[in-house]
Amino acid sequence: MAPYSAQDFYDRLAEDYHLIYADWPASVSRQGNALDTLMRKYLAGAEPLDVLDCSCGIGTQSIGLAERGHRVVGSDLSPAAAARAAAEARRRGLALPASAADMRALPFADASFDVVLSADNSLAHLLTEEDVGRAVRGMRRVVRDGGLLVLTAKDYGDARQTRRQSTVPQVTDTAAGRVVTFQLWHWHENGVHDLEHVQLLPDRDTWRVQVRRATSRAWTLLELAGLVQQCGFGDVTWHSVEEAHFFQPVLTARPMA
Ligand SMILES: C[S@@+](CC[C@H](N)C(=O)[O-])C[C@H]1O[C@@H](n2cnc3c(N)ncnc32)[C@H](O)[C@@H]1O
Repeated sequence: MAPYSAQDFYDRLAEDYHLIYADWPASVSRQGNALDTLMRKYLAGAEPLDVLDCSCGIGTQSIGLAERGHRVVGSDLSPAAAARAAAEARRRGLALPASAADMRALPFADASFDVVLSADNSLAHLLTEEDVGRAVRGMRRVVRDGGLLVLTAKDYGDARQTRRQSTVPQVTDTAAGRVVTFQLWHWHENGVHDLEHVQLLPDRDTWRVQVRRATSRAWTLLELAGLVQQCGFGDVTWHSVEEAHFFQPVLTARPMA
């Protein structure tokens, strides 16, 4: 069966994306702080940094980094998500030019950013080594020598071997009541799986069910590190959740000349 379209999935989710967090504004600040600390560790003295967030979604990391004073540009496959990121930044009085672009064909000039970022497992929507390679080579092209690549990814642990069937429900309080979000996973070969993203929305004394479908690949952290190394980066390092103070492991890598 053909994979589900990531663009359709995120276009349809854009308006409700914040509901996958218990408190999205708090996560924006927390994630911005964590990534800012890591970036300053590698690029001290060069701040504020020119940052490309090439899977910015509705701006979770872009806005947090703009709040920390960096000059952030956002792009994302989903035009609806990119438009919401720009609007959310504007509401906060922050500049965040954001547009629709596929990270496999980044529409930016060579060497235009100090940091290229792709956060929250966005690479999992690239289903083949060729597609990840195309994306990471593009990131190498647009990052300056001496700059930094930052990727964050889900550590699937044994989920791929055991073919885990679902995620733990996330409960978010809203003015209308609780919203419950979880995923059901349907496995194919090589870690590729279709996911059903289920949201239960309060509807008087019952629930309205919203289901959106996408296809992902459960890349291991080792596989991703190897692909990054093959695409013009060195000093490839995974920082643990505890070390990075981020909710996922964070990979940093330096561009090779
Ligand atoms: C889990 S969301 C994370 C979004 C954002 N980083 C955040 O944490 O809020 C994954 C994002 O990857 C984007 N994406 C998937 N495939 C992409 C591609 N080929 N190029 C650019 N963005 C892509 C999706 O549109 C979606 O916004």
